[in-house]
Amino acid sequence: MKENARKTLIAPSILSADFGALAEGVRLAESMGGDLVHLDVMDGSFVPPITFGDKAVRDLRPVTRLPFDVHLMIQMPENHVDDFCAAGADYLTIHFEATTHVHAVLSSIRERGGRPGIALVPSTPAEALTEVLPLVDMVLVMTVSPGFGGQDLIPRCLQKVRSFRRMREERGLAYLIEVDGGINRSTAGAALEAGADVMVAGSALFGAKDPAAEVAFLRRPW
Ligand code: DX5
Ligand code: ZN
Repeated sequence: MKENARKTLIAPSILSADFGALAEGVRLAESMGGDLVHLDVMDGSFVPPITFGDKAVRDLRPVTRLPFDVHLMIQMPENHVDDFCAAGADYLTIHFEATTHVHAVLSSIRERGGRPGIALVPSTPAEALTEVLPLVDMVLVMTVSPGFGGQDLIPRCLQKVRSFRRMREERGLAYLIEVDGGINRSTAGAALEAGADVMVAGSALFGAKDPAAEVAFLRRPW
C-alpha cells in the first residue's frame, strides 16, 4: 500500500445529477465528500448539449459552502464572465478553443475576483497554453471530448498532465491541474500517477450505490 502523499481534491460533477433537483445534487456532492462542486455550462454551440446558465449557479450558490468550479463549455465566454463571477463562481474555467482573446478573458475573471481556469480539448497540445499559464489558478485537462458524461478516458491526454506539472515546476507557477472525463475506479490511479491535483467525476459518483465510498476510493485508489 503506497500512501498518496498529496491531497487529491475531488470535484463531483452535477452534470450527472437529476436536473429536476439540482440543489439535491449539490447537497449530495458535499455529503459524498467532494471538495469542490463542478458545474458544466454548455451552450449547444461549443458542444452539442445545453445545460444551464448563470441563474442556476446563482440559485445553487447558497446550497453549499463548497467552492464552485464552473466549467464553461461556451463560445465567446467574454460575453458571460461578468454574469458567472457575479453568480458566485469561485473557479471560472474557459476553453482555450472558445475565444481568440484568451489572455483578456482570463484577466477579466481575475479582475472580477474569480479564480481563472483554462481548459483544453483532447486535440489541443499542452504547449498551446504556454503564454497564458501565468494567468491561471487552474488548468483543466479534458480527458474526453467535452459535451457528455459517461465517456471513456483517452489515456494519451494524461501525458498533458505530466507536461503541465513539468511547466509548473520549471516556471515556478502554482496552478492546480484538474482532469475531467472518464475518471472512475479503473482510471483514477493513472490520473494521480500523471500528477492530477483535482479529479472531476460525474457518472462514477452519481451513478454509484455508495458515492461516499467512491470518493474515498478515488482519493486513494491503491
Ligand atoms: C464533460 C464534462 C464533465 C462530465 C464528466 O464534457 O466536462 O465534467 O461531467 O463526466 P464523467 O465523469 O461521467 O466522464
Ligand atoms: Zn466539466
